[in-house]
Amino acid sequence: MTRPKVGPGESGPKVPVHVAIIMDGNGRWAKRRGLPRLRGHQAGAESVRAIIRACRDAGVKYLTLYAFSVENWVRPRAEIRGLMSLLKRFLRRDERDLHENKVRLRVIGRLADLPAEIQQELKRVMKATEHYDAGQLILALSYGSRTELSDAVRRIARRVRDGEVTPDAIDEKTIAANLYAPDVPDPDLMIRTSGELRISNFLLWQLSYAELYFTDVLWPDFREEQFREALAEYARRHRRFGDIG
Ligand code: IPE
Ligand code: IPE
Ligand code: MG
Repeated sequence: MTRPKVGPGESGPKVPVHVAIIMDGNGRWAKRRGLPRLRGHQAGAESVRAIIRACRDAGVKYLTLYAFSVENWVRPRAEIRGLMSLLKRFLRRDERDLHENKVRLRVIGRLADLPAEIQQELKRVMKATEHYDAGQLILALSYGSRTELSDAVRRIARRVRDGEVTPDAIDEKTIAANLYAPDVPDPDLMIRTSGELRISNFLLWQLSYAELYFTDVLWPDFREEQFREALAEYARRHRRFGDIG
């Protein structure tokens, strides 16, 4: 597992290397304005753009955004369709920004569950940006942490069956190495908007030592100023990783 190198009594780096966000509250934002839910998702897409820029400016290297969970497939079909078309628009319109800022796009989740057209577009942009190293934008799509862990266990079991690993050799590193994006360091800071105090099946393994930040602000209202507040709060936290001090 990747952890920042910190000695006893020292706090970690003041700017998080990796920020993971549960972007919640689009529906309620729209409802409060008497608008259809999709309008909330549209406004939320503007927050996505603002936060990507804010990460670049603050020096955050990895940004993981929970955009669609495995559980979200139970939503009305029209809402799912709307979300997918927003994603498509984002991939088309914002690709240039990724190139300009040398940001690599990645996806965690069950890519194969997504509509074929979206898969194609995602693969295209991922391929076109795979050599960039200024930062990474990781979209969690049809993502569920329990699904990710089940997929990892299945892969490890196959390797045991094929004689590549012995059961006794399985450790934390083996599990971490079989997750969707094994080379990405664990999140330092996890933000959830909209006042819900839960993880909703997001990065259960990777968040083991993340600092958690919850805010009542709804995602469409979460912009650079609110993000900076979260970073400031993170900078005040004292991470101990089990040590004293
Ligand atoms: C988050 O906003 C976006 C997705 C989960 C796709 P919601 O759509 O969950 O908004 P609320 O929670 O209903 O307000
Ligand atoms: C979590 O939000 C998933 C995403 C932000 C994509 P939800 O709105 O789906 O979570 P619950 O259902 O309130 O836990
Ligand atoms: Mg929600």
